[in-house]
Amino acid sequence: MGMLRWGAHLLLLLLLLAAATWTCAGAGAGVTSEYRRKLEATVDMPLDADVFRVPPGYNAPQQVHITLGDQTGTAMTVSWVTANELGSNTVRYGSSPEKLDRAAEGSHTRYDYFNYTSGFIHHCTLTGLTHATKYYYAMGFDHTVRTFSFTTPPKPAPDAPFKFGLIGDLGQTFDSNSTLAHYEANGGDAVLFVGDLSYADNYPLHDNNRWDTWARFVERSVAYQPWIWTAGNHELDYAPELGETVPFKPFTHRYPTPYRAAGSTEPFWYSVKIASAHVIVLASYSAYGKYTPQWTWLQEELATRVDRKLTPWLIVLMHSPWYNSNNYHYMEGETMRVQFERWLVDAKVDVVLAGHVHSYERSRRFANIEYNIVNGKATPAANVDAPVYITIGDGGNIEGIANNFTVPQPAYSAFREASFGHATLEIKNRTHAHYAWHRNHDGAKAVADAVWLTNRYWMPTNDDV
Ligand SMILES: *[C@@H]1O[C@H](CO)[C@@H](O)[C@H](O)[C@H]1NC(C)=O
Ligand SMILES: *[C@@H]1O[C@H](CO)[C@@H](O)[C@H](O)[C@H]1NC(C)=O
Ligand SMILES: *[C@@H]1O[C@H](CO)[C@@H](O)[C@H](O)[C@H]1NC(C)=O
Ligand SMILES: *[C@@H]1O[C@H](CO)[C@@H](O)[C@H](O)[C@H]1NC(C)=O
Ligand SMILES: [Fe+2]
Repeated sequence: MGMLRWGAHLLLLLLLLAAATWTCAGAGAGVTSEYRRKLEATVDMPLDADVFRVPPGYNAPQQVHITLGDQTGTAMTVSWVTANELGSNTVRYGSSPEKLDRAAEGSHTRYDYFNYTSGFIHHCTLTGLTHATKYYYAMGFDHTVRTFSFTTPPKPAPDAPFKFGLIGDLGQTFDSNSTLAHYEANGGDAVLFVGDLSYADNYPLHDNNRWDTWARFVERSVAYQPWIWTAGNHELDYAPELGETVPFKPFTHRYPTPYRAAGSTEPFWYSVKIASAHVIVLASYSAYGKYTPQWTWLQEELATRVDRKLTPWLIVLMHSPWYNSNNYHYMEGETMRVQFERWLVDAKVDVVLAGHVHSYERSRRFANIEYNIVNGKATPAANVDAPVYITIGDGGNIEGIANNFTVPQPAYSAFREASFGHATLEIKNRTHAHYAWHRNHDGAKAVADAVWLTNRYWMPTNDDV
């Protein structure tokens, strides 16, 4: 009988515990994933690594990459470098590799950085393309010709499906290489890249040869599908001690963006319309205060150029996150958040993607827009109009993982983990998109965090639990 009573007490205790756990989950506690990769050093791949190999042939075009050449992908800008001599600026293109019946003439540029001189950097925009069509293109006439291909995105339409890869802070380590390999295996159609490309500035004199190696490394993806570029702090290359005082010099010479087509006046902030998505790229390292060019442009963009009936999905890219519960880069995005958050909530932005912090985090739909210095309302609050904030700065660069989260996990934070990886955002139609994060340690196909997002304009349901 004694035993029986003890057993009943134990059962009651277990029930109470279960109830407590349930209540806790019901209150929406976020997850800090305990998964720990072995914290190996992240080292850059050596200069003689296979991925850095210069393509064979005299003056062969190298570092080939493409990005949209207009707002919707009826133009594509092809960039490449020739090392030995200028060579040809021409790109021939057409619907089969044997029938490159059209030609576009590009231009070239070069730059010096301290005692480094770049190769000949070519940019050529192919125009008059048809949406959702495969094209072959070739360059390097006069000497070594190389041929590639891409498929233009579908014409902007409310239910046009599209799969984006989401990558940030990639760098050129062995981990970077597995991030890229996993993304390739998961098969997106274009990459939204949230900044910090090569990390060349980690080398003495910002060794710009590491800009070249990075571009050779990622060519296997970005020569075949457009990557949408965001400028990060590692693109600044501002080094007055070296006499280099023009910010973004290597980045702007190498990576064009279609900013003019978006009514912007600088390459660092602009927008594109891909399938059913309107993607706005913001610049964390250009002025955004009231009356500045970026502020003026964004105000106009949201007021007059976003059309949720045509492109239901409104996605914003930036480098420095507004919602980041990692002690690494803590609150660095705060000034921009204070400036722009209300606009994004009013515009019912679906997702905000950022990098900078070398780990992974996904937020619930929260906003912090009530505070006015005197009312004390400074705590982020659940808001169904607010975006989901995703920090995807976990590409695997040389600076290593950011493994120090704030405790306790704030209410806005749904999931966070200090591992390298990439994500995909698969838009199905105007109401549904599937978001998934893949940690590198599990191979390409395993999903470590995933959520169905419902569109803020067409189906603003509670989708963040
Ligand atoms: C990088 O990844 C690719 C694809 O998995 C592989 O072929 C290549 O050998 C890797 N290179 C290095 C240096 O790890
Ligand atoms: C640039 O200067 C560094 C340091 O003096 C030197 O090691 C390097 O070889 C120089 N590079 C060129 C291209 O002259
Ligand atoms: C984590 O960050 C906090 C706040 O910056 C710092 O006080 C602490 O020492 C850090 N912990 C580790 C293990 O680095
Ligand atoms: C939109 O996609 C979701 C997810 O695939 C699906 O459940 C839903 O039925 C689709 N809506 C329409 C109108 O087809
Ligand atoms: Fe960064």
